[in-house]
Amino acid sequence: MIEKAGKRLVVMLSGRGTNFAALQAASNQPWFNAHIAGVISDRSNAAGLGLARENGLDTVCVERTRHANRDAFESSLTAAIDGFEPDYIVLAGFMRVLGDAFVEQYAGRMINIHPSLLPAYRGLHTHRRVLEAGDREHGASVHFVTPTLDGGPVLSQVRIEVRDDDTPDSLADRLLAHEHRLLCASVALLARDPVEVRHEDIVIDNFRLAGPLVLGRDLDEHGQRTDPGRPGQ
Ligand code: GAR
Repeated sequence: MIEKAGKRLVVMLSGRGTNFAALQAASNQPWFNAHIAGVISDRSNAAGLGLARENGLDTVCVERTRHANRDAFESSLTAAIDGFEPDYIVLAGFMRVLGDAFVEQYAGRMINIHPSLLPAYRGLHTHRRVLEAGDREHGASVHFVTPTLDGGPVLSQVRIEVRDDDTPDSLADRLLAHEHRLLCASVALLARDPVEVRHEDIVIDNFRLAGPLVLGRDLDEHGQRTDPGRPGQ
């Protein structure tokens, strides 16, 4: 078998897998510096899992219902992840809350994409909550996963305008294409630059990020920082 170049990724998903598909497409591009070593789902009927198989990727399904308790489930997840020997684990629509010990074993190596401008709107129904609050701006965040749900240090964000006629569905649909761009750029950055998490801080090339890198301002589509001397804001 030909050894693929770049960092090894494990993608974890629970549903349709459009963010996974975006990563898979990006992995054929020279700027991406990474490839998907394996895909893990907690749902056997996840469309993303089928898509991964169609793409010839190695997949594992680890279902909670087939395990006696959360510890047993997370042990199986750990075995599945470690079997792929990943550099980074990408939660791309993985909709299960993970336990502290499980998360801590991947500190600094596990990222999640969340459909809000964190720290605003952790949890579910973010699009509806943004509209209910009357916000004029919405977005998505890529953050390192820590035991606090959607609470780990935020690496990058993409921002979009909320329109007067937006519904939760229209907002979600419009944001999704931007999520794909953000996730691909963020993974490309991680694959190329030395990024560390120190307590609540993200340190890139020995610079502490003062705030999330904003796509289109601090970070380009290929994960290059536009001004490495001025990290975040
Ligand atoms: C994405 O919108 C992602 O941000 C969200 O699930 C969707 C998955 O879509 N994740 C969360 O809400 C995590 N809290 P996809 O399966 O098409 O990539």
